[in-house]
Amino acid sequence: MAPSLCAYRHLLLLLPSVLLLLAGTASRVCAECAKNHTLGGANKLFANCNDLVVQGANIAWSLEAENGTLEVLFSGNAPVAGGWVGWGINPSASGLSMAGTQAFIAFQAHNGSTVLTYNVTTSTQLGAPFACSPISLRVLDMAVEIIGLRIYIFVSLSLPSNQTNTSTSLLNHVWNRGQSVSNFQPAPHSFSAEDVSGLKAINMSSGIVSVEVKQPQPPRYLLKNRHAILNTVGWGILLPGGVIAARYLKLVAESSWFYVHVVMQMLGYGLGA
Ligand SMILES: *[C@@H]1O[C@H](CO)[C@@H](O)[C@H](O)[C@H]1NC(C)=O
Ligand SMILES: *[C@@H]1O[C@H](CO)[C@@H](O)[C@H](O)[C@H]1NC(C)=O
Ligand SMILES: *[C@@H]1O[C@H](CO)[C@@H](O)[C@H](O)[C@H]1NC(C)=O
Ligand SMILES: *[C@@H]1O[C@H](CO)[C@@H](O)[C@H](O)[C@H]1NC(C)=O
Ligand SMILES: *[C@@H]1O[C@H](CO)[C@@H](O)[C@H](O)[C@H]1NC(C)=O
Ligand SMILES: *[C@@H]1O[C@H](CO)[C@@H](O)[C@H](O)[C@H]1NC(C)=O
Ligand SMILES: *[C@@H]1O[C@H](CO)[C@@H](O)[C@H](O)[C@H]1NC(C)=O
Repeated sequence: MAPSLCAYRHLLLLLPSVLLLLAGTASRVCAECAKNHTLGGANKLFANCNDLVVQGANIAWSLEAENGTLEVLFSGNAPVAGGWVGWGINPSASGLSMAGTQAFIAFQAHNGSTVLTYNVTTSTQLGAPFACSPISLRVLDMAVEIIGLRIYIFVSLSLPSNQTNTSTSLLNHVWNRGQSVSNFQPAPHSFSAEDVSGLKAINMSSGIVSVEVKQPQPPRYLLKNRHAILNTVGWGILLPGGVIAARYLKLVAESSWFYVHVVMQMLGYGLGA
């Protein structure tokens, strides 16, 4: 129950105020955003921490303004055992998108917990083989820790100087997760609303997370079909179903109608959004 409530809590927030209580409960069961982490037996303290809201992800980080050293501890949930979790920076000025991301992707490989670097390109988006490769960021250190489905990625980077001038540049963070990895190649993530929402620009001076502006798109033909189908299921069936449940189930089952209604509205909203 906890992970699914967690995943949907941002949707709950959009529903009428009667559900705010539920939403509050949901956010408390999500992994806490903490500045203090123990990684590989050593305690690390970061200056900032942001709850990234989608996919149960959060990020603790410190930026040394004078030499541009950025230390990040990203954590997220793999959808299943054997899945992957990734985080990266898209250094291009217009980079709130998947293509261009310089990514760190972690998973359980046959030889142990692994984090490797990946250069995400438009070909990756179109399904080209996704092998690990050098990236354009200067990496000082990397580490990974996997506890159940929770994957922690530690990265220390030397940022280019035009990204450390925090009066002008927001840093574009991109993250995601997927079901499987084969031969060190992460399989594509899915395209649910939550799976294409892992994009945020963070003001590295104030620590304020901006609203995402763009979402990566699956190939257009897939998007059209899936979206049309999901929209019909979401808005066409589940939402009216929720209203009907509220009207008529009330008569038969005093206490359960509300929960049926809430669940149907949540599903309806999630699929239709
Ligand atoms: C961080 O966590 C460690 C281990 O739980 C604890 O000993 C330490 O006091 C904590 N430090 C801060 C600053 O919270
Ligand atoms: C950057 O500066 C910080 C604080 O002065 C220092 O701890 C760190 O070692 C420096 N990193 C590099 C790569 O010089
Ligand atoms: C920073 O500089 C690099 C190389 O000159 C450029 O490719 C990149 O777009 C710049 N990033 C920003 C945020 O201006
Ligand atoms: C596992 O194998 C890969 C590919 O050979 C290598 O890059 C990686 O460092 C290895 N990981 C561990 C934990 O030995
Ligand atoms: C990443 O891929 C892009 C597009 O193919 C390429 O232009 C760029 O040089 C690659 N980056 C690195 C560090 O290899
Ligand atoms: C940061 O950018 C602003 C505006 O472009 C510029 O005036 C300032 O000198 C830059 N600061 C540093 C440390 O580069
Ligand atoms: C980032 O935060 C700093 C300090 O709060 C602020 O001065 C600056 O305008 C912000 N930058 C952007 C691009 O919002």
